[in-house]
Amino acid sequence: MRTDQDQPVRLEDYQPPNWLVETVDLDVSLHPTASRVRATLRLKPNPAAPAAAPLALDGDGLTLRSIKLDGAPLAPESYAATPDRLSIAQPPRHPFVLEIETQVDPSANTQLSGLYRAGDTYCTQCEAEGFRRITYFPDRPDVMAVYTTRIEAEKSEAPVLLANGNLVEAGDIPGTTRHHAVWHDPFPKPSYLFALVGGVLGHVADEFVTMSGRRVALRIYVEPGKERRAGFAMDALKRAMRWDEEAFGREYDLDIFMIVAVSAFNMGAMENKGLNIFNDKYVLASPETATDEDYANIDGIIAHEYFHNWTGNRITCRDWFQLCLKEGLTVFRDQEYTADQRSRAVERIADVRVLRAHQFVEDAGPLAHPVRPEVYREINNFYTPTVYEKGAEIVRMLRTMLGADGFRKGMDLYFARHDGEAATVEQFVACFADATDSDLEQFMRWYRQAGTPEVAVTVRHDAKAATCTLEIAQMLPPTPGQPVKETMVIPLTLGLVAPDGRDLPLRLADGRMVERGVLTLTRPAETYVFAGVPARPVASLNRGFSAPIRLTANLTPDDLRFLAAHDSDAFNRWQALQTLAVTLLIDNVTALRASQPMRTDAGLVRALETILADPRLEPAFVARALTLPTESDIARELGRDVDPDAIFTARNALRATVGEGLGAALRDAYRRLADSAPYSPDAASAGRRALKNVALDLLAASGSSAAIAMAARQYSSADNMTDRMAAVTTLSLHPVRERQAAIDDFYRRYRDDALVLDKWFALQAAIPEAAALDRVRELTRHPAFSLGNPNRVRSLIGAFAQMNQTQFNRADGEGYAFLVDHVLALDAHNPQVASRLMTAFKSWRALEPGRRGKAEAELRRVATASSLSTDVRDIVERSLAEP
Ligand code: PHE
Ligand code: ZN
Repeated sequence: MRTDQDQPVRLEDYQPPNWLVETVDLDVSLHPTASRVRATLRLKPNPAAPAAAPLALDGDGLTLRSIKLDGAPLAPESYAATPDRLSIAQPPRHPFVLEIETQVDPSANTQLSGLYRAGDTYCTQCEAEGFRRITYFPDRPDVMAVYTTRIEAEKSEAPVLLANGNLVEAGDIPGTTRHHAVWHDPFPKPSYLFALVGGVLGHVADEFVTMSGRRVALRIYVEPGKERRAGFAMDALKRAMRWDEEAFGREYDLDIFMIVAVSAFNMGAMENKGLNIFNDKYVLASPETATDEDYANIDGIIAHEYFHNWTGNRITCRDWFQLCLKEGLTVFRDQEYTADQRSRAVERIADVRVLRAHQFVEDAGPLAHPVRPEVYREINNFYTPTVYEKGAEIVRMLRTMLGADGFRKGMDLYFARHDGEAATVEQFVACFADATDSDLEQFMRWYRQAGTPEVAVTVRHDAKAATCTLEIAQMLPPTPGQPVKETMVIPLTLGLVAPDGRDLPLRLADGRMVERGVLTLTRPAETYVFAGVPARPVASLNRGFSAPIRLTANLTPDDLRFLAAHDSDAFNRWQALQTLAVTLLIDNVTALRASQPMRTDAGLVRALETILADPRLEPAFVARALTLPTESDIARELGRDVDPDAIFTARNALRATVGEGLGAALRDAYRRLADSAPYSPDAASAGRRALKNVALDLLAASGSSAAIAMAARQYSSADNMTDRMAAVTTLSLHPVRERQAAIDDFYRRYRDDALVLDKWFALQAAIPEAAALDRVRELTRHPAFSLGNPNRVRSLIGAFAQMNQTQFNRADGEGYAFLVDHVLALDAHNPQVASRLMTAFKSWRALEPGRRGKAEAELRRVATASSLSTDVRDIVERSLAEP
C-alpha cells in the first residue's frame, strides 16, 4: 500500500516526460492469485526533454520477474527495481524496446485499483494511478501510446476476454484448457484508459450506424441471467451516441463499443477507451428492481462515460491538475443530454440542487479547493463536486457568455486543434477566446479561485423617471490558502417582470439592449439603470442559475410569491419558493434555539397551492416545487452554529403544515396520478410518479393515519420499485406498526438481489430517530453486510453519515465515533472508499460548539491513528487545518 510519506505534487513543478512510449504490447495471463504480465514498451526520448535523461517508471506494489532491453536481459547493476519504481540510470540515447515481466495477485487486491476481481470477474481500474499496479510504466496522462493487449485464461474461468479497441484474434491454446484473445486499440491513449476484463459474463448485443454510415457493434456484458436488465442501458447508449452527433458533431471511432457491469467498483463508472467498466448499479435496471431515480442515473452515467470518448479520451489531460478539463466538460455534456432527453427546467433544478448540496458545502469548508487545484497529496481525493459540478458550471457560463453559436465554434476548434493530445485548461479556454475573438483572461479566475461568490443586488424603481436601477456587488470569501481574492466575471441572466407577468425589454438608460438577457459583471460593484419601466417590476435574477453564486436581493415575500406564480423562467419559479421556505425555516430554527415559538407562513402555503393547481406545469416540476429544502440545505444556508435537531424539528413542522394546508389538493393529486398502465421509465411517467409520491409523503407528514394506510397499501400493491420504495420510505419516517412490517417484507422479497438489498440497508440507515445508531450497528453484523463491497459500505455507513443528519450528528458524538471506527477498519482494505466516507466531516466547523468539539475529537483520533493511507491522512489533515 502507498504510504503517507508521499510528497505533495504541485502544478508549478510540471515537467514534460523524459521518455515517450510509442507502443505498448501487453500479454496478460490471468490467474486468481498469480497473474503474469509481460509488457513490451517501445520507448523513445522526448525531443522536448533534456538529452540523456534517466528512465524512471512508476510502480505500486509490484514485483519484477524479469527485464530485457532490446532483447537482452539487463545486467542487475544497470537498473533498480522497488515495488514503486523501476529506474535505468543510463538508458540508450535512442529509441529502444523494454520487456518487463511482473506478477500480481488480483484476488488480494482489495483496493479495487489495478487488476482485481469483482466477484469472480477479472477487471481493471486504472484511473488515476492504477496502471502502475499492473506493470511499471510512465503512469501519467501525457504519455500516450498505442496498445495491443493479449489476454489468456482458463476457458472455464474466463470464457469472455475483453480489452480496449478492436478484436484482432482469438482462439484456444492447443494442448491446454486455456484460450486467448488479442485486442488492438489504434488510438494513442494514456495508461489510465487501459482496461481488460475476463470472466463468465452474459451480454446483450446491438448495433449503431454512425452519421457517416459506419456500423458499430454494441455490447453490454453483465452477470449471466441479468441480460434483461441491461436493455435500458443499451437504449441509453444509443440515444447518447446519436445525441453527441447532433449536439456536438462527434462520431464514434472504433468498430465496437463495450460496457461491462461489475459488482465491486469504487466509483460510478469508468470511460476506458472502447471498454467502459461500470458499477453494476448504473447498468442494471428492471421495473421491479430499479426506481425512476436509478433509471435516470443510468441514462446520465451511460451518456457521461460515452461522451468521454471525445472529452477525455481523444483529447485527454496533460496532468491531473487538469482533471476538470475532462470531468467538468463531460458533466456539462451529460447535463445537456439529459435536458434534451427529459425536461430542461427540471434537469436544471436537479443539477443545481446537487451543486448546492455537495459543491457549495465543499467550497464553504476546510476541503475547499479551486476547480483546477494547484497542489495535491492524493489525486484520488480530487474527484470532487468542485472538479465535476463546479467544473461543469464554468463550461455552462462560457456558453451563457458566448451564446450557443460562439460556444459551438469554440468546441469545434478545441476538437480540431487538440485531437490526439493531452491538453490544459488554458488551451481549452484559448479555443473559445480565439473562435469568438473574446478576452477570457479574467474568466480564468474561475479555475484558480476557490469559494462561492456572493452577489448582493439592490433593486430600486423610480416611477417618475420610469427607471429601474440595479446595484450589484460581488464578494468572494477567503478559502484555505487563498485569503485574498480577485474580482470574478459573473454572467448574470435576468429579467424584469412587469405586473402582468410579462418580461420587459432590457433597455439600459444609454439605449443599449442587454444581449440575451445576460449582464456580465466584472467589477466589485456596478450599477445598471433600465429605462422604460413605468410600473414597479420584479427582478428575476440569475435565471436558470446562470452563475454558481450565492445571491441575495431586496425582494419582498410578495415579490417572491409573484415570481413563483409568474416568472417565465421555470428555474426561478422554483427558486422563489425555495427562498421563501428557507427564510421561514431559518427563522424557525433560530426561534427554536432561543426557545421562542415558531412562525407560520400562510403565503408560502398559498404559493404552493397555486403551483399544485396549475395544470400547465409538468408534474415533475410540481414535485420539485413541493419538495421542501432538505435538512442539509437548511444547515448550509445557516452556515454556522448548526443544530441538526432544531433543523429537523423546524422542517418537520413545515412539512406538517404544508401537508395539512394542501390536504384536499394532495389527496386529489394522489388519486388523479395513480396509474394503472404498465410501468415505463420515461420522464413524463416518472414525473407523475414523483408528484404522486411527494403528495403521499406530505399527507403522511401531516400526521394523517389515512395516509399511513395509503402508504402501506401502496407498498404491498406496487408493481414497480419506484412506488414500492417511495411507500416504504414514507413509512420509515413514522414510528408506526406498518413500518417494521414493510421493512421485513422488503428483506424477504429482495434478499437475493444485491442492488435492491443496498436500498434496504440505506433505508434503515436514514431513519431519523434515536434508535437509528443501534439499528445501524446491528446491521453491520448482518450476514449480508461486508466491508468488501463498496456499494454495501456506502448503502449502510455512507447513507447513515450523509442522509441521517440528526443521528450522525448526535449530540453525544456517538455517530461520529461510529463512522471513524469504520473508516479506520476499512482504510487498510480500501483507502479510496474510506477517505470518501471521511468527507462526511467536511462541515464540522459549522456545527454548534458541543457537536463541533465531538467531531474534532474524532477527527483527531483518526489523525493520530497509526498506518493511515495517504488518502485518509490527506482528508483528515486538511479537515483539521486552521481555517
Ligand atoms: N473518470 C470516471 C468518470 O467518468 C470516474 C472515476 C475516477 C472512476 C477514478 C474510477 C476511478 O467520472
Ligand atoms: Zn467522468
